[in-house]
Amino acid sequence: MYNIAILASGSGSNAENIIRYFKEHATIRVAEVLTNKSDAYVLERAAKLHVPARVFNKEEFTSPSFSERLIREGITHVVLAGFLWLVPQHLIAAFPDRIVNIHPALLPKFGGKGMYGGKVHESVVAAGEKETGITIHLVNEEYDKGIHLLQASCTVVADDTADTVAAKVHDLEYEHFPRTIENWIIQTQS
Ligand code: GRF
Repeated sequence: MYNIAILASGSGSNAENIIRYFKEHATIRVAEVLTNKSDAYVLERAAKLHVPARVFNKEEFTSPSFSERLIREGITHVVLAGFLWLVPQHLIAAFPDRIVNIHPALLPKFGGKGMYGGKVHESVVAAGEKETGITIHLVNEEYDKGIHLLQASCTVVADDTADTVAAKVHDLEYEHFPRTIENWIIQTQS
């Protein structure tokens, strides 16, 4: 059995989609949801779907005991789904090539520190891009620099706003993120 911990900072619509996708899965399950925000809506989604969830603070996150606890709990893979903090070295060392993130743009474009959520889509529109999309990638010490597992794109047209681009990107995320996680886990199970 492979046990995923999802880390999310906000609404958690991707987290919910991933939880639902793996609900009846034979070998992969979402074991817990972790968030750095006590009022994140992802907590309500997790409760509704009967997935254990807890809130952590910066001190807990930066301490190696955070990784040790995940390992004790049997977590094998970590999924960042709208998670905004830089992942500490101890977590990367505890889960080498076992942490995946989704970025709502076609990296290396519109990536890096400060490029998250609506800011990404505003920048895409302001730059007059003709397309944007998603990048699902492994996580290393630097923001948005790990190996790409998948990119998928959508068009950006003249009438698009940051909100309409966000909606298109979310659709791509819902379509591709769970399946990419599944393929990644299955391929790396050795
Ligand atoms: C997604 O667009 C994700 O790519 C980005 O943050 C957003 C999170 O949305 N990193 P949600 O919380 O899953 O609804």
